Amino acid sequence: MRTALNALTDELRRLKTTGIKSVSVSEAGLLALRSVIRSRQNSSSVAVNVTVPMRAITAPPMPVSKPKVVEPKLPAPPVVNLTAGDKAGRWAALVAAIQSDPVALAHLPPGKKIVCGTGNLDARILFIGDAPGLEEEAEGEPFVGPAGQLLTKMIGAMGLKRSEVYLASLMTWRPDATSPAASAPIGHRGPTDEEMRYCLPYLRAQIEIVQPTLLVALGSSAAQGLLGSSAFKALGEVRGEWREFSGCPLMVTYHPSYILRNQSNRSKRMIWEDLLKVMERAALPISEKQRAFFL
Ligand code: URA
Repeated sequence: MRTALNALTDELRRLKTTGIKSVSVSEAGLLALRSVIRSRQNSSSVAVNVTVPMRAITAPPMPVSKPKVVEPKLPAPPVVNLTAGDKAGRWAALVAAIQSDPVALAHLPPGKKIVCGTGNLDARILFIGDAPGLEEEAEGEPFVGPAGQLLTKMIGAMGLKRSEVYLASLMTWRPDATSPAASAPIGHRGPTDEEMRYCLPYLRAQIEIVQPTLLVALGSSAAQGLLGSSAFKALGEVRGEWREFSGCPLMVTYHPSYILRNQSNRSKRMIWEDLLKVMERAALPISEKQRAFFL
């Protein structure tokens, strides 16, 4: 290193004799050069006269702030033409279309998966969340994370198995929290209206195939995606009431993640009362014990 720097100082000296007064070097190179000069000045009487104005030789500093990620505008929502045939065949063709959607693929981080609805194609009840989270995009299946595990328990409390219902999310990809719209940590940004509008035809197609008796929207994002963002201001205005989507009765309730954040019996009872209405309308048996849950 020192030999190289000695060669460099010799070269600079030579350049100086040809009339060149300044050269460009990096900040690191400048520091190394200075230390050589200093040590030479300390150890010998030979002065190395390399005086180059700091401004002239300092390479421009690297930008420190990261450029903002701007979420591109999405194209028009896809037009889904369901194939003829039985439910399983139509569903498989739809899943293939969802899995190859170029917009969804463009939103996938490396190694992550598009999340399509799953469950019983003859389900009477179809649950709809807003968007997959980190666990869901890793596995390519909706409701497999903590909120999904709680949802599975809620379904069990209704006297059903997870395999007896159909579970879907409005979004087929996880909204990326690096976009400017994001204020919450990665994995928890709610989907935008535009994102939900883009994915909605895929949800409608799943509803058309499954033909459930009832839909249950979980949380305000899902409810807004289905009913429109101007339909309500607070979820409390619409939860527990019957609405309609795609020709199907729709019950709006809280997302299970709300219970994960707020474990009070009061919150659990609010969701449970909505689910009791769903059970009644789906003609599921309800025991006295079930009626009294969380009271
Ligand atoms: N919330 C959703 O809406 N969907 C999932 O798959 C998981 C959590």
